Amino acid sequence: MSLDELKIGGMGASRRRVEDNRFIRGKGNYVDDIVLPGMLHMEILRSPVAHARIKSIDTSAAWDMPGVRLVLTGEMMAARNLAWMPTLSYDTQAVLATDKVRFQGQEVAAVIADDPYIAKDACAKIVVDYEILPVIVNPVQAAAPDAVLIRDDKEGQKDNKVFDWEIGDKAKTDKAFEEADVISKLELHYPRTHPSPIECCGSLADFDRATNKLTVYMTSQAPHIVRAAVALVAELPEQNIRIVSPDIGGGFGNKVPVYPGYVISILASILTERPVKWIEDKTGNLISTGFGRDVYLKGEMAMRKDGKILAFRMNTISDHGAFFADAQPSKFKIGLMHSTFAAYDIPNAHLFATGYYTNKAPGGVAYRCSFRVTEAMFFQERMVQAAADDCGIDQAEFRRINFVKDDQFPHRTAFGFLTDSGQYGKCLDIGLEAIGYKNFAAEKAEAAKRGRLLGIGISTMTEPLGAGNSREYDILGIKMFDSAELRVHMTGKAILRTGAKTQGQGHETTWAQIVAHELGIPADDIIVEEGDTDTAPFGMGTYASRSTPVAGAAVAMVARKIRAKARKIAAHLLEVSEEDIEWELGRFYVRSNHDRGVTIQECAMAAYSNMPDGMEPGLENNAYYDPPNLTWPFACYIAKVEIDPETGVWDVLQFVAVDDCGVRINPMIVEGQIMGGLTEAYAMANMQYQTYDEDGNCIGSNYMDFLLPTAWETPGYELYEVVTPCPHHPIGAKGVGECATVAGPAAFVNAVVNAVSHTGVRNIDMPLMPNRVYEALTTGKDVYGMPPVRSGN
Ligand code: CDP
Repeated sequence: MSLDELKIGGMGASRRRVEDNRFIRGKGNYVDDIVLPGMLHMEILRSPVAHARIKSIDTSAAWDMPGVRLVLTGEMMAARNLAWMPTLSYDTQAVLATDKVRFQGQEVAAVIADDPYIAKDACAKIVVDYEILPVIVNPVQAAAPDAVLIRDDKEGQKDNKVFDWEIGDKAKTDKAFEEADVISKLELHYPRTHPSPIECCGSLADFDRATNKLTVYMTSQAPHIVRAAVALVAELPEQNIRIVSPDIGGGFGNKVPVYPGYVISILASILTERPVKWIEDKTGNLISTGFGRDVYLKGEMAMRKDGKILAFRMNTISDHGAFFADAQPSKFKIGLMHSTFAAYDIPNAHLFATGYYTNKAPGGVAYRCSFRVTEAMFFQERMVQAAADDCGIDQAEFRRINFVKDDQFPHRTAFGFLTDSGQYGKCLDIGLEAIGYKNFAAEKAEAAKRGRLLGIGISTMTEPLGAGNSREYDILGIKMFDSAELRVHMTGKAILRTGAKTQGQGHETTWAQIVAHELGIPADDIIVEEGDTDTAPFGMGTYASRSTPVAGAAVAMVARKIRAKARKIAAHLLEVSEEDIEWELGRFYVRSNHDRGVTIQECAMAAYSNMPDGMEPGLENNAYYDPPNLTWPFACYIAKVEIDPETGVWDVLQFVAVDDCGVRINPMIVEGQIMGGLTEAYAMANMQYQTYDEDGNCIGSNYMDFLLPTAWETPGYELYEVVTPCPHHPIGAKGVGECATVAGPAAFVNAVVNAVSHTGVRNIDMPLMPNRVYEALTTGKDVYGMPPVRSGN
């Protein structure tokens, strides 16, 4: 009797998340839950100003406070060659400021004390004499000829430019523009936002002088990269460094970089020979850790009269803050921005990117996206809507004309990506049907009678998820692959470890489902462990939705290695040759006699008690997986909105999401990922951004200014699916974690702009707060946002 895969929690089962057993009981184990004997507490003093020379720091009053064990300044870090550290983009970043502070919230000093309250009070006693310097809060100011030099610490740095980078064929693209019937233009700002995980960053460093071993419990999405960085920067032997990421309360890219707080707590533990805990507060997290976006995008599209796109050209100017700390593969200065328009068949393209330093927090992280893919897809879908309007073609039809067709795969984009599968037309059709696209004109006319404006916004895209392959993708020179290690015990139960690190995605649930699918061992019999560098195999961590495409593939591959060995054992037990053995889920049987078989559990027992002569005992293995290509999930999101023209307030009447992430391991978890991603998209489109005043004060340093949508304002979503298996992934899966955050914002913005387009407005920059929508409606002009004030500078 073959097993029912759904019953054993295999692929396709909406298995309940096993990790929730501890989370809903309040039994999660986060960094702040860990208490070690003799532990001290650390607090960071941050700069209140955005740009200033440090004339002096007086720490004497802090040292005098009872319970204070150590006060660290940049000078003391410098004495140990630790005042600066490398960033993930080959720049340097101050750990504790020595010469200048370059953004509000920068780390200036740290106090280590018996409890966190003493440490905080002592920080308030530190006196810093600042000589205030001019402040730069946007790239226009940064590029001005008389602009103050922010990075005067860097030899040879004469201006505030970080990089120039280009890709594509400029000459061919320009020629296509000369031959075009219609040219469409668009300019917009994707504002700075913050991933804002519920749990802030933190670390607990424990250096043991007797064993020379350093253990750091920390909130890292990529613990193995941290171990490598600590080994290289602090020059500690790698085998003596253990990084443990316990439960993490959300990461969204924010917990990929190495932050000064981690480094300071490590040095503090080495100096005090006591465990030192640092837990960041919410404001510290919002004003100093990796932000997302902050890119100015400008582009043009060339079309024939019939709507066929001939070419596009694009210019991006990105604001990187005080240190270039983007978490991204080293080859690509502006991440995977050049994945833009990958769903469309466009022969010619050119992209020119420039980056600037400003007096703002560093760390443009891949906030729930693969390295700037969100900005790329947002611009793409806003541009497509504008171009359709300029051609006088229906926005859905315009997409259909230009999509890469089902029989065109594999398809090479103008920038060199290879998309390998897709059914974009089908995906769009499902969305249009669900939203009632055909009836929209009538609905809009009816709403107009009630004095309301209706708009419909479509966003369709395919995006690259799952870096590597290792030929092209690396972080700090370390190739991007991933790994899994599987040990099947004697009784057929198993433990699986991977190089990924879940932060809420449910790996403990879904990885076990892949093993169940490959081996027929019930998912409940498999424990999944991640995040401890002493036990997990080397991996590049979890971000950019790379876990399923890379670590998930490694899980399938290691399970297949186990199955291959179990097959030999089965042949031995059944006394036939291996060639005469067949496999069905959970069981080997003799080809000529289905009733003669052995289960995988019987093979496991035999691996320890009755293996064939000469066979190595045990049933365990590991696999390192280097994917041949990225995976290319795709989606169609459609929003229908209604605006009250008297206030500019808009409501979502209906939202339809059609996603293809290949074969779904756990449909319930996939749906959760899509709903969460859409809610983050809604937040960015509607209410959320971080801006700065002219003095560099961060507006968005708390949850009164930086808004998180609650269940009250979040719209409902209708979810649909298309399944196009990934042709190269062992189980046909593609990533899904970020699709909705990536393509969601354009659906909302396109809908609102569609509703006001009769006034001639082509763009309103996010967030589409009612005052901006009202301004667009009443002036008929585009509303452009840029700090310190949103228009006119
Ligand atoms: O890298 P990250 O875990 O953030 O993203 P992902 O690989 O897209 O996976 C997010 C969650 O969705 C994981 O628990 C996956 O196993 C699950 N998933 C799935 O069940 N089926 C897919 N085809 C893709 C992801």
